[in-house]
Amino acid sequence: MPRPTFARPASSWLARWFPWTPKVPAKPVVALKRPLQVDLVAGKSYKWCVCGRSKKQPFCDGSHFFQRTGLTPLRFTATETKKAWLCTCKMTSRPPFCDGTHKGEAVQRAQEGTPL
Ligand code: FES
Repeated sequence: MPRPTFARPASSWLARWFPWTPKVPAKPVVALKRPLQVDLVAGKSYKWCVCGRSKKQPFCDGSHFFQRTGLTPLRFTATETKKAWLCTCKMTSRPPFCDGTHKGEAVQRAQEGTPL
């Protein structure tokens, strides 16, 4: 079986502990089939989970890294203090905010924790 190629420089501490990462990123999984309302604070930075594997939805808990998905969270800074609906189905067209895509048949038929 051919060995996977190194995606990181061999000198990287990441390469020592995690010797390979996939060349093709994993597909995001549907974490939940509904958005979550969160309180955003103006000027504060957030990391929105892109992979859908975080246990702290809708925010990142590092699962993308430890599960070697090849995905990275979306960092954003809130421009105003407000309540916002953040996407958890990971299919929104305007991340990190919900755009109603979760109401579609494809997301509603999907199992949570699996990709579409
Ligand atoms: S939760 Fe993803 S579009 Fe609404």
